Amino acid sequence: QPSLGALARSQGLTFGAAVQGQLLETDPDYHRAFETEAAILVPEWEAKWSALQPQEGRFDTAPLDSILRWAQSRARPVRGHALIWHNDLPDWTRAALGEGRDRALAVMAAHFDRVLSHARGQIRDWDVVNEPVANPPGSDVPQAGPGELRDTPWLRALGPNYIDIAFRMARERDPTLRLTLNEYGIEEDTPDATEKRRRLLALLRSLLARGTPLDAVGIQAHLQMVRPFRPAPFAAFLAELRQMGLAVLITELDVREAPSPPQDMGARDALVAERAHAFVATALEGGVRTILTWGLSDKYSWLATEPAVALRDGRTHRGLPLDAEWRRKALWEALARAF
Ligand code: XIL
Repeated sequence: QPSLGALARSQGLTFGAAVQGQLLETDPDYHRAFETEAAILVPEWEAKWSALQPQEGRFDTAPLDSILRWAQSRARPVRGHALIWHNDLPDWTRAALGEGRDRALAVMAAHFDRVLSHARGQIRDWDVVNEPVANPPGSDVPQAGPGELRDTPWLRALGPNYIDIAFRMARERDPTLRLTLNEYGIEEDTPDATEKRRRLLALLRSLLARGTPLDAVGIQAHLQMVRPFRPAPFAAFLAELRQMGLAVLITELDVREAPSPPQDMGARDALVAERAHAFVATALEGGVRTILTWGLSDKYSWLATEPAVALRDGRTHRGLPLDAEWRRKALWEALARAF
């Protein structure tokens, strides 16, 4: 069987995955999997704020550079993730953002100056703002903000305009970039997701009305088996995005299993595969041309390592195309079939 990367390419699509540069160097199986399957890469943490600027003015691009070199020698594109995100801000940045509007603008400008000039010509796609929309009140996720926008240090420092400001800063520094707003929790057929889709569409409309330089929307697609998925509402959402003239990418696909998945492995994998297939087929039907999974193997998935999302019975989520022994599983086949 050819790889997901090759199968996607044969259909005019791009398939890739989130990568950790260090594992490329230390784990030969990991290296082989990325070599084989991923036609495009996104650094899982190496291009986040705290990785790139752990202290004010002290930039560390070495971890990102190792991914860029690996990708460049194979002529594979790298997406940038993420310039502005409420998570993963070092203490110094949180403190600086509390010191008034001018200071916040200067901090953002300095980061964009350095990072975008460093990655110029190597990263064409950037997630400029990640996860700006608040979860509706009463949702299962605790970080919800009171308004439609998430309550973040950036929002507090610069007001709701921080999103527009970030996109303009990125465009000014490199007009050749494709600028993306990335969001999660907008895929499934729950009241929370329905409301979050509405909020996101309202945000995008207001940004475009003001002439914000926004090119694409990234849909994270951390799917959850406990939530129902129906193609129709998601297809309608994609149609609205496309009507706005925005490109749409699936940026972080994986599947979180229900609390007690079946003991039978075949049955268990079939559930996950069926869900992924329904989702990806709907996305492709709706004009999506780029699909990335958040990692390739269950062995190193954040679903295994994040306590908040891990299975409680000691088992490991099987939400990525390869299992922890690097074998292709039903989810791999489902993606291949969908492409
Ligand atoms: C996650 C990484 O996978 C973890 O290793 C890290 O500790 C925290 O971030 N949405 C995003 C990603 O946009 O950046 C997150 O990645 C997963 C959720």
